[in-house]
Amino acid sequence: MTDTQVGIIGAGPAGLVLSYLLHLEGIDAVVLEARSREYVEKRVRAGVCEQPTVELLREIGVGERMAAEGLPHHGLSLRFDGADHRIDLTALTGKAITVYGQQEIVKDLIAAHAGKGLPIEFEVSDVELHDLDTESPRVTYRDAEGNARELNCAVIAGCDGFHGVSRPSIPGVELTAYDHQYPFAWLGVLARTPPSHEELIYTHHERGFALHSMRSPEITRLYLQVDPAERIENWSDDRIWAELEQRLETKEGFSLREGPVLEKSITPMRSFVVEPMRYGRLFLAGDAAHIVPPTGAKGMNLAIADVRNLSRALKALLRDKDGELAASYSDRCLRRVWRAEHFSWYMTSMLHTDPNADAFQRRLQLSQLRYTASSTAAATSLAENYVGLPFE
Ligand code: FAD
Ligand code: PHB
Repeated sequence: MTDTQVGIIGAGPAGLVLSYLLHLEGIDAVVLEARSREYVEKRVRAGVCEQPTVELLREIGVGERMAAEGLPHHGLSLRFDGADHRIDLTALTGKAITVYGQQEIVKDLIAAHAGKGLPIEFEVSDVELHDLDTESPRVTYRDAEGNARELNCAVIAGCDGFHGVSRPSIPGVELTAYDHQYPFAWLGVLARTPPSHEELIYTHHERGFALHSMRSPEITRLYLQVDPAERIENWSDDRIWAELEQRLETKEGFSLREGPVLEKSITPMRSFVVEPMRYGRLFLAGDAAHIVPPTGAKGMNLAIADVRNLSRALKALLRDKDGELAASYSDRCLRRVWRAEHFSWYMTSMLHTDPNADAFQRRLQLSQLRYTASSTAAATSLAENYVGLPFE
């Protein structure tokens, strides 16, 4: 049996940033993670960090490697009709984004925890939450050796992603879920080859959406829109490169640099929000409470914005015995969440090829793309959302 102030379920970006922020406020926390350290440090996911995310990580002292190795980007391209239309993020907003892999942020945060002796328990199982509607909730679980353990807390933070146990631990009648499915999935590829262009390229093509991104000057990250029922076994490396060639082709000629495929997988797309993000002494944060399709590059950034709010609320609740910020936590987060939900839906709808769209809807889509590429007002709206709206 262990006592701590905050039991954190999940060592993704939400759980790790929360644990570190609480430590800086002098609040004890224990992080419980189902997977191994090696697994979470290798899991390839997000790549785009908004400016507020970069600033927060720098402020709390875990941004050193990101500053050295992250790639600052001042613009992106919308590619359609076989031509690029650059959105100059910095000219339009004064801000930029940083391309730095989520697993690198996770590595930096785990190293920062290890350096200060902050507890993260990996490879836990049978995690169950109890007494959430009391002031002393508990977590029971098995540690990596299979021993039954119990964590007594003042608060539990559910940072265990979309498939975790926290959200399902809340009685169904207490939550309202908003769910939207798309007829698309993304086939993601990590390849050992230098990027073919200095910036990200979001491509609308009749064969489907494609995205050119990167992780470093040697590693390219690419995505293809595929049917959600597609199986990765059907996509040989040759087929992936041939499809990317076709979708990324331009009238001027674009040369795609090919190289060995290091990893490939298919992720379905979904929008999902539960309200409220709190039940008694359980607070949900990040993907545990909401999912966005990756087209807006918002998921990880939103997870970090949630826990910045949560750390302030928990400091007031646990240190100053003031429950006001905890009471408004869900409402404050949900304003930002719904903005990101809308932006991610808008980017997804504008850029993908919907197999169910009629000819009228396809014309509207092309008109929206052309308007965004040619109007400063429309481009500024995209850029403002993309670089990240202020935390408050
Ligand atoms: P997670 O990262 O999912 O972490 C949850 C953790 O909880 C995991 O480590 C999991 O193992 C653990 N866990 C689960 N169940 C339990 C349990 N029962 N007990 C203990 N631990 C448990 N976002 C962006 O901002 N920008 C992007 O460019 C971007 N691109 C993406 C591309 C792809 C292909 C995908 C799939 C996602 C992308 N995202 C992007 C989304 C982003 O990766 C997620 O939103 C982000 O990981 C959410 O962080 P989190 O900490 O809330 O959840
Ligand atoms: C990525 O590099 O993984 C990435 C970039 C932009 C997105 C989504 C994912 O919109």
